[in-house]
Amino acid sequence: MTAESEVDIKYLKAAGRVVAGALKKMMKHAQPGITTAELDNIGKEFLEKEGAKSAPQAMYDFPGATCISISPVIAHGIPNDYVLKEGELINIDVSAELDGYFADTGASMIVAKRIPELEKLLDATKSALNKAVHAAKAGALLNSIGKTIQDEATRKGYGVIYDLTGHGIGRKLHDEPSNIHNFHNPSDRRTLNEGLVLAIEPFLTTGKGRVVEKKDGWSLQTADKTIAAQFEHTIIVTKNEPIILTL
Ligand code: CO
Ligand code: CO
Repeated sequence: MTAESEVDIKYLKAAGRVVAGALKKMMKHAQPGITTAELDNIGKEFLEKEGAKSAPQAMYDFPGATCISISPVIAHGIPNDYVLKEGELINIDVSAELDGYFADTGASMIVAKRIPELEKLLDATKSALNKAVHAAKAGALLNSIGKTIQDEATRKGYGVIYDLTGHGIGRKLHDEPSNIHNFHNPSDRRTLNEGLVLAIEPFLTTGKGRVVEKKDGWSLQTADKTIAAQFEHTIIVTKNEPIILTL
């Protein structure tokens, strides 16, 4: 959607605050011994308390309130009785609707341990997100987002996942523009307009950058089982610095 009024912005900010709060709380509780279903429940209760509805559940009948992915699964992992272990690379993705407005955020993390090799990947992905968010200015090419992400990945010695993209968001979870690629695509001539609401979500990997769906019909894992990381923010595009809704 394109945010057209202060009212839109106010409600989008509220939705952004809620998903960011849920993600932060879940990351704090992502400790060894907790099951992913228990962790999901913490997120679900947080959303409910704030009057928000899980977006993947409401829109796609996803079997969980949030997506919790254990490496090499990188997206759409289903919360279940799996018990988190120290040193695991995981991703938590929270999207929700509040008063008719959607926001989406995600983060990768290591469970209760410092592992320099993984931290390097996390830092590179965070840096790609940060740079991409600031490249998203009204008047710029939409693909300046993908180009920025891929350039930063390359600079840090990683590749991107080609099959997973960012997306427009606002009145729906997945809105126009679709397919906000995480790579440079010179044939994509779409431009960004002021007020456009976007979920930007770089996925960086040590592998070839393809994902496959697992038998559960949801979980997406790297085809070559390499590690990957994702960070995601929902933003409103402006002529200058974006409004980041999910800080
Ligand atoms: Co997300
Ligand atoms: Co998203």
